[in-house]
Formats: sequence, structure tokens, C-alpha cells
Amino acid sequence: MAAIVLDGKQIGREIEGELKVRIGNLAGNGVTPCLAVVIVGEDPASHVYVGSKERACARLGIRSIRVDIPADAGYGEVVSTVKRLNADPEINGILVQSPLPNGMDEIAITDLIDPVKDVDGFHAQNLGRLVQGDKSGLLPCTPAGVMRMLESADVDLCGKRAIVIGRSRIVGMPQSLLLAQKGVDATVTIAHSRSTDMAALCREADVIIAAVGRSNMVTSDWVKPGSVVIDVGVNRVNDNSVKGYHLTGDVHPDVGEIASAVSPVPGGVGPMTIAMLMSNTVRATEMQQ
Ligand code: GUN
Repeated sequence: MAAIVLDGKQIGREIEGELKVRIGNLAGNGVTPCLAVVIVGEDPASHVYVGSKERACARLGIRSIRVDIPADAGYGEVVSTVKRLNADPEINGILVQSPLPNGMDEIAITDLIDPVKDVDGFHAQNLGRLVQGDKSGLLPCTPAGVMRMLESADVDLCGKRAIVIGRSRIVGMPQSLLLAQKGVDATVTIAHSRSTDMAALCREADVIIAAVGRSNMVTSDWVKPGSVVIDVGVNRVNDNSVKGYHLTGDVHPDVGEIASAVSPVPGGVGPMTIAMLMSNTVRATEMQQ
């Protein structure tokens, strides 16, 4: 039987509906949330992502300001921009789009952002709170979006085997912590480039989260029938179309014939990430009042 398709656009619209109520309450107190997005250089994919974030702000009535910094401007300009935005009481959320040009220390820049304005949830204080099971911090958007997607599909994770493929600071690591936290209670395997027999590890899993950035890596022979498969991959594959590329995930389309539920690419985790960024911006604004 074909898998249920987990529609990130639809769930994202539901989240936006909830946020509009909270944004209305803030407006009643004369407050409009404001997100500042810093983009350094000309990475085309980053410009596409930042455009989606700006459009989501516009839909919800969140103010957004964008700071474009040329790739050759130097580290000092990024540092002074973040410090200026930290000090500006009109700015509630700050996001520095990744990747930064070669040689710029992303972790050092992230740790300069005021933790209460860190809507990406990447500051050491916010990640540290996640490790401690303390829910008062801001959570990284993609892993939080995946959890919300699993919740919307009523996937019971308690005692289940979950595998996260990828151990990045932005997705894989925080995703593993969220799945294992008290109240969610999955048993989590973190697989990565040095893992042996990835296929066998995946076949043991009830839930597979693929976040490596390798087109169609998870094939149907890796998947136990009935498992839930979430595809975090966004891979640009060159073709002869007008754009010159199309997007694929880390999960092969055939997996839809074996799994009970799959998230599509595009239209799955991507819109969830944006919705959670909007949610963090509203939450950050509420916390700052
Ligand atoms: N680049 C790709 N994904 C993200 C994200 O979630 N946040 C930031 N800041 N940069 C990214």
C-alpha cells in the first residue's frame, strides 16, 4: 500500500493560523515582531531560502529586515552587524544565514547573537538547554519542525527505534536529542559517514530521519515495511530544465511503496522549517515583553 504523504505545506498553514492569533495579541499591546536576516555573499540556495523566510513574515504580519553583506566584506563587518542588531530593541529575532563564506567561523558568529533573539536555536545556551531537557530555550527550526510533523501524523515514538542519518549541529544532533527526550522516549541511533552497514541499521528502525544531503540515498531495501520516513535532504540535481536543476531528497521515491508515511521533497520538511522559524520569532518577541 502507498504511504501517507506528510504534507508540510498544510501543517505549516495550520501553524501560521495559530501564530496569527498570537501576533494579533502582540499587536493589541502595540508590538509587531521583527526578524532580522543577515546574508553574507551570493550563495544562490541561501538567497532562495531567505526569500521564502521574508515571504512567510509578510504573510503573517511580522516585520522583516534584511542585511546583505558582500562576501569580501570581512568577518569584522558580520560581527559588528550582529552586535548592532543585538542592541536594537526593535529587533526581536536574528538569523545569520548559513553557509558563511570560507574562513568565517559560523559557531563564533552564532554565539555572538543574544540567546533570546537566537531564532535559529543554534546558540550554545539554547543547544545546552536542549541537552538538559530544559524547554525554556529556542529550538532549532528543522528538528522542531520534524517533531511537529510526527506529532501531526500521530506517530507514537515511545519505546520505538528511530535512526537519524547525519550528525550536523543544525539538524542531526538536535534531532536526536529531541527524539530521545523525556515524554517523546524514542530509542535513537545516530548514523553518520563512518557508520558501517547503514542499510541494516535503517531496517531495524520504526522511524528514519535522513539528513545527509545525498540524493536518493535511502532506498526501499533499507526500509522496514510500515516505518515512517522523514526526508530532510534538499539536493540540487542539474538538468536541462529552465532553472537548470531540480530538487531531490535523501530518500528514493520508491520508499513510498514500503513505508507507512513519508515526507516529500519539496513540500515536506522545508515548509515546516519556515513555520518553526516564524514560531520562534513570535515566541522570542513574547519572551522579550
Ligand atoms: N542554512 C540552511 N538551513 C539553515 C537554517 O535553518 N538557518 C540558517 N541560519 N541557515 C541555514
